[in-house]
Amino acid sequence: MGTEPGEIHRGLKGVYFDTSEASFIDGSVGKLLYRGYNIHDLAERSTFEEVTYLLLYGKLPNSRELETLDSTLRANRGLPQEVVDIIRLIKNCHPMDVLRTGLSALAAFDPEVEDKSIDATRRKGIRLTSQAVSIVTSHHRIRQDLDPVTPDLFLNHAANFLYMLTGQKPMDQEINLMDVDFIIHAEHGSNASAFAARVTASTMSDLHSAVVTGVGTLKGPLHGGAAESVMKMAQDIGDPSNAENYARTTIENGERIMGFGHRVYRAEDPRARHLRERARVLGEQKGEPHWFQILTSLQEVMKPYQNKGIYVNVDFFAGAVYHLLGIPEDLFIPIFALGRIPGWTLQCMEQYENNVLIRPLTQYTGEMDLEYIPMGDRKQ
Ligand code: CMC
Repeated sequence: MGTEPGEIHRGLKGVYFDTSEASFIDGSVGKLLYRGYNIHDLAERSTFEEVTYLLLYGKLPNSRELETLDSTLRANRGLPQEVVDIIRLIKNCHPMDVLRTGLSALAAFDPEVEDKSIDATRRKGIRLTSQAVSIVTSHHRIRQDLDPVTPDLFLNHAANFLYMLTGQKPMDQEINLMDVDFIIHAEHGSNASAFAARVTASTMSDLHSAVVTGVGTLKGPLHGGAAESVMKMAQDIGDPSNAENYARTTIENGERIMGFGHRVYRAEDPRARHLRERARVLGEQKGEPHWFQILTSLQEVMKPYQNKGIYVNVDFFAGAVYHLLGIPEDLFIPIFALGRIPGWTLQCMEQYENNVLIRPLTQYTGEMDLEYIPMGDRKQ
């Protein structure tokens, strides 16, 4: 058994490792389907609750099925006091570290933690989708020396997130923005975090462990961390007239422009469009139109790179939207994670359903058969 050097696919680029019914992506034209449904229809016409049902059950729900899922999500918004206590202990960490730790701690309180059946995995995924909101929002309150906000059972998932974060009832437009944001982040094939979660599931470890793996993988700036970096970049650029110079200098220095490029898209990421117009409108309403202007100037000067397949990705306008909603930068990645839990859950369900241990090879390029020299004989 072995891999010939010519067969190495660094970064697993272009490698199919299994089949999936979760998402279809045609990167050449920027097409994305969840369970066969176009992301544009889902973003404009559906809700996060409905998309969660679609992903986890494989079909659009009827009204009774949607109501049952929605009630389960609402009923699971509370956190065990012990988890809140842990959040208090680590309140100065990055919110992604708190989310990862909080999700891990929840395993201690989940009666089905070791049950890897499809039904139990789905139920756990639904619980985690709700509980994760409470971890992120409770931590944000606690680190400001405020009490966590009691969830409001009358609010939908997106509205309750904003309410628990700020203590203020959000406006309809803000709720819609959050809802769309959760929808477009809900699932995306075998991205790095979903793959990592599947690797964990493939050892027949449990969903909590797999989701914790996903959170750890999402944290990096080449994956979920890009929205945070985009906003920092927009602040560095400062003015639309500086965008050209910024792009040139960054690329000349061999660095990447955050929010551009994607492993699978060689056209515009179809998710980006749903935040672009919303970012513009929100910016004008909040009296901060310059963020949108800076970003669109950057998009303009990056046009020559389109022939290399580098277009804006989902994170490009997300940072500006979150900023305009008054959300601090270190919550941008956790928000991505909150949307992605149904997707990670689905990927793990698929893995459990037809499991094979995921265990690729690396081609050994080190030395061979070296003589072991005892400590006393080694050059000191
Ligand atoms: N800015 C400048 N050049 C870029 C960029 C960028 N953002 N992205 C790719 N390139 C260049 C890259 O330097 C390479 O050029 P060359 O062929 O001359 O060496 C070429 O495009 C191909 O890049 P690659 O490294 O093969 O692409 P990849 O598939 O390994 O990387 C990526 C994908 C997302 C890591 C990369 O595009 C990147 O670092 N983007 C910035 C970070 C970012 O926005 N991440 C969010 C991704 S979307 C959210 C998600 O789903 O995770």
